[in-house]
Amino acid sequence: MKTLNQLLAMKQDNDKISMVTAYDYPSAKQAEAAQIDTILVGDSLGMTVLGYESTVQVTVADMIHHTKAVRRGAPDTFVIVDVPFGAVGISEAQDIQSAIKLYRETDANAIKAEGAHLTTFIKNCSNIGIPVVSHLGLTPQSVGIMGYKMQANTKEAAQQLINDSLEVQHAGAVMIVLEAVPSDLAKVIAEKVDIPVIGIGAGNGTDGQVLVYHDILNYGVEHKAKFVKRYGDFSSGVDALNQYNREVKAGQFPDAEHTYKKQILSEES
Ligand code: KIV
Repeated sequence: MKTLNQLLAMKQDNDKISMVTAYDYPSAKQAEAAQIDTILVGDSLGMTVLGYESTVQVTVADMIHHTKAVRRGAPDTFVIVDVPFGAVGISEAQDIQSAIKLYRETDANAIKAEGAHLTTFIKNCSNIGIPVVSHLGLTPQSVGIMGYKMQANTKEAAQQLINDSLEVQHAGAVMIVLEAVPSDLAKVIAEKVDIPVIGIGAGNGTDGQVLVYHDILNYGVEHKAKFVKRYGDFSSGVDALNQYNREVKAGQFPDAEHTYKKQILSEES
C-alpha cells in the first residue's frame, strides 16, 4: 500500500498519482488489481449505486457500509472515505465525533471533506491523527448553491481558491481534490502547495487524477461530463441480461453443460 509519505514523494518526483472511486468489494478488487494508487469511496455512491438525485441523501452509515466492503476488496490500497453531507459543519465536538466514527469503523487511511470553510475541522482531525483530504472547487454537496458547473472562473474567484488551498494545507490537509476548475489555475495551485493535488475536470497540470468508476466504465450512468473519458463499456450488461431472459423463457437455459448430471430419483418415483 502507498503511504502518505510515498504519495508526497510521487508529487516531488513528478510521478502522477492515480485515484478512482470504488463503492463495493468487486470494484475495489478491480482497482487494486489495476494497481491504482488510491481509492476514493466517494459520496457519489448516492447517485452511482443508490440511485439518489444527488449526494445530499447519503449518510455516515451508508459511507461506513460501503467503505468496509471496499477495504475488504482492496486491503493493500490507500483508501479515502468521504465525509457525507450534514456530518460536519455542526459543532466542533460533533464534527470530530463524525470523523472518528468514519475513520475508526471503516479502517480507511484518510477522510475527505468538502469546502474551504472546514479549516478548524481539518486542524482538529490532524491534531488527533486523522489525515484529511480537502475537496475544493466544485463541491457536489453544495450543488444546490453552486450548480454543476466550472468554478473559479474569474480572477477574484481564482485568487480565492489559491488562498483556500494554502489555508487548508496550513490547517493540516494531506491532499487536495480539485474539481471543475480552469486548468491553468489548477496547475498554479499544484505548484504553490506542497501536498498532492488530485484533479477531476481540472486539466493535466495537477499531481494526479481521479475519475468515478461508473463514468470510466459507462456503467449505469446517463450523463457524461466533458472531463470524463470512457475506458470501457459495461452498458453491454443489458444485452447479456436480455439474452438470459430470452433463454429462460424459451427453456434453453440451463442446458446440459450447466446442469448437474447425477440422477437420484428412480424412474418409478
Ligand atoms: O464523491 C466523489 O466521487 C468525489 C469525486 C468526484 C472527487 O468526490
